[in-house]
Amino acid sequence: NKPFFILGGGSNILFTGNVRGTVFKNEILGIEQVSSDLDFVYVKVGAGVVWHELVLYCLEYGFAGIENLALIPGCTGAAPIQNIGAYGVELKDVFYALEALHLATGELVRFTKTDCQFGYRESVFKQQHKGAFVITSVTLKLSKKAVYHTGYGAIQKELENMRVDQLSIKAIARAVMNIRQSKLPDPRMIGNAGSFFKNPEISETEYGRLKAAWPDMVAYSTANQTVKLAAGWLIEQAGWKGFREGDAGVHEKQALVLVNYGKASGLELLALSQRIQDSVFQQFGVTLEREVNIL
Ligand code: EPU
Repeated sequence: NKPFFILGGGSNILFTGNVRGTVFKNEILGIEQVSSDLDFVYVKVGAGVVWHELVLYCLEYGFAGIENLALIPGCTGAAPIQNIGAYGVELKDVFYALEALHLATGELVRFTKTDCQFGYRESVFKQQHKGAFVITSVTLKLSKKAVYHTGYGAIQKELENMRVDQLSIKAIARAVMNIRQSKLPDPRMIGNAGSFFKNPEISETEYGRLKAAWPDMVAYSTANQTVKLAAGWLIEQAGWKGFREGDAGVHEKQALVLVNYGKASGLELLALSQRIQDSVFQQFGVTLEREVNIL
């Protein structure tokens, strides 16, 4: 009955004050191939397994599906909470099921893909079940016969740079790692929580209005007749890329990432994020929603 907080890898959180009570660090380990058929293998992974170690495991066994998600910081148990995604793939594409401890009853509950209600950086664990469950394991459905996802422009370019003539999941993972290392700061070297905001989704009509005023605006169409704007582009246009005040700043190579050069407080970073939101809203009339968890 005492206050506590469950921590995954800590890579998607901005701490703005001290945490009350006990902090539990999830260290449930283990990767198990639970079943397989001609085309697929089902891999059950302890929630505390470092995500990138799982990616390396799959590359070694030739299990395809998460190679585009190489080098994302954090633990496997956190991956479904925000449906991690990068370079054209989201966790939901390979997700099969998970087990989670219901804190109120102590029961272990199984969630299927439908139960999780995955969306863009969204799931039921950020909505109605927020704080109610501790994810203990995640089962992925991975392919023995690879289907390559190389549609994301940056991947194609990097594969060309690498002079890859035989496409493989290892080559794709290498390309993704190269891109990430060139653009995104390593959280072990410089404090950051990845993208600070989500890419905002707006209606096609609103996009038409914006595009007329800013013909270079970077945007992608989605399956549900909306348009996703590149928040990094909006923030850069608003003049924030490379901004620094004290130790709080905006990454010089990716404006969507806020960085802590050393001793900035969580509150200073939060205040900076609010200034960015205000300025983007003033210039474009677009609301940026935060992607990181604020504690
Ligand atoms: N852009 C700029 N200036 C910038 C940054 C981006 O103009 O400073 C424009 C560029 O045109 C670029 C485009 O925005 O081509 C997209 O940028 P990028 O490829 O870096 O991807 P993103 O949309 O900014 C998203 C995810 C990342 C993920 C990448 C790659 C979100 C919130 N972020 O970023 O995920 O790695 O795509 O798929 O969806 C994370 O969630 O923490 C994260 C890093």
